[in-house]
Amino acid sequence: MLKVAVLGHGTVGSGVYEVFEKNAAQIAHTVGEPVEVKYVLDLRAFPELHYADKFVTDFEIIEKDPEILAVAEVMGGVGAAYAFSKRCLRAGKSVCTSNKELVAAHGEELLAIAKEHNVNYLFEASVGGGIPLIRPMIQCLAANQLQEICGILNGTTNYILTEMIRNGVSFDDALAEAQRRGYAEKDPTADIEGHDACRKICILADLAFGDKIDPEQVSCEGITQITLEDVAAARRMGYAIKLVGRAKRTEAGKVYACVAPHLIPETNPLASVEGVFNGIQVTGDMVGEVMFYGRGAGKHATASAVVADMMDALLHREKRRPIEWGNGAQELLLPLDDLVSAWYVRGEVDDALARCKTEGAAITIPMTVAERNAKLPHAEGAMRVL
Ligand code: HSE
Repeated sequence: MLKVAVLGHGTVGSGVYEVFEKNAAQIAHTVGEPVEVKYVLDLRAFPELHYADKFVTDFEIIEKDPEILAVAEVMGGVGAAYAFSKRCLRAGKSVCTSNKELVAAHGEELLAIAKEHNVNYLFEASVGGGIPLIRPMIQCLAANQLQEICGILNGTTNYILTEMIRNGVSFDDALAEAQRRGYAEKDPTADIEGHDACRKICILADLAFGDKIDPEQVSCEGITQITLEDVAAARRMGYAIKLVGRAKRTEAGKVYACVAPHLIPETNPLASVEGVFNGIQVTGDMVGEVMFYGRGAGKHATASAVVADMMDALLHREKRRPIEWGNGAQELLLPLDDLVSAWYVRGEVDDALARCKTEGAAITIPMTVAERNAKLPHAEGAMRVL
């Protein structure tokens, strides 16, 4: 019997326990022997649960138990989760996480500690919830130089936008429902202001380009300024408005990265990604464009990815998964304003474009931000067109 522990019993943590319990036979078959969740760490007690006896409040019990081979860190945040992850890795335990904030902020350090102690630090669930994405990028696309990643990376905002577009639901009502369904972060600001998507695109860029892209330095815009008028205007022109995370390598090896609402042509498959689903397009120099699609948030979808990582960690105890990226010293990030795009704008425009006056228009001449400001000085609500 192999023993593991779960740090945190929130939405994802309780899901991790349930996945281990429900699919115990299949997990045992794949790993080669049964796996038992020996401890669940949480400051709260859950006396009503049939596994109430597994709960501990003292992290040291887990840290000091040599039987524990792998730990699910599903606490979130960069406080205790950061400290406990380091201590687990140093104690020779693999750590598997859904914590995008921690991976984006300190992934390179945690991966280096994992390497030093010959254990795994795995984070499939940190981007795209239950969608297989990170492992395919590392393994199946390994023979490619990755050139661009572009995706809908936040289920909450995609759910809200879909409700606005399809059902005319107000922003506040759609957000409340996303929270009720367990999609949203504890503080939904991280979702609606784009910070969650920003952390995710940075993790993917770190992996794809080999050096840390700091979320603090990436241009990040959320969906709070999008109006129902924008949504309707985009639809009339054959576009859907989506919150998109992008990271693109230039020929010189530098990187543009951003999170912002974009107009996506209805012919692009990303435009059809609706509700809580995420869709991520990855472009490699040999394979061309591939797309990953599935449930980007939610208890069981995310937990299934955490558990799969734990199974992988248990299977790779001798020869760990080699994942790493640099500490940012390469300074890959370029100023976003220089990225040439077509634009959507609304507002007062000159006579030649008077027909666009109240409706907004997609200007399909590629321009930098400076060029756009010169040509359309009074434009409002500017969004890039994908
Ligand atoms: N709040 C996140 C989302 C959860 O809505 O996508 C999954 O990372």
